[in-house]
Amino acid sequence: MTPEIDIVAEAIKARSAAQAPYSNFQVGAALQTLEGTVILGANVESASYGLSCCAERVAIFKAVTDGHLDFQKLAIASEGGAAPCGACRQIIAEYAPDTEIILIDTLNLNAPRTTRIDALLPDAFAGNSLPSN
Ligand code: THU
Repeated sequence: MTPEIDIVAEAIKARSAAQAPYSNFQVGAALQTLEGTVILGANVESASYGLSCCAERVAIFKAVTDGHLDFQKLAIASEGGAAPCGACRQIIAEYAPDTEIILIDTLNLNAPRTTRIDALLPDAFAGNSLPSN
């Protein structure tokens, strides 16, 4: 039997790859496919601040460009256990809508918070909102 993946530990591990010299706020994300593969992401910042990319989007973009399209879990680790920003909520709603979202506070690992994108971004704009689709 394959051992169960510790998605919380994976997100914490992912966080160590963050490139966050400007905010000094490191975020890790671990995205688990339906088959069980885990794709990691971390935030990557730019000296041109607005070009920075959040951990969640790095993980999702890595996953989808590697051909993974169906996900079961997205774990996000940061100090304080922040919920995804608005831009990431939009991308989660489009590419990982059915995932359990687990928010991990690296300062209090005992109490991960679980949510879903429907709660974080109700009535999301999506491809089917476009008349041509
Ligand atoms: N950040 C994330 O990676 N994910 C979030 O959900 C919120 C914010 C990053 C972006 C930036 O590198 C740093 O945290 C501070 O905003």
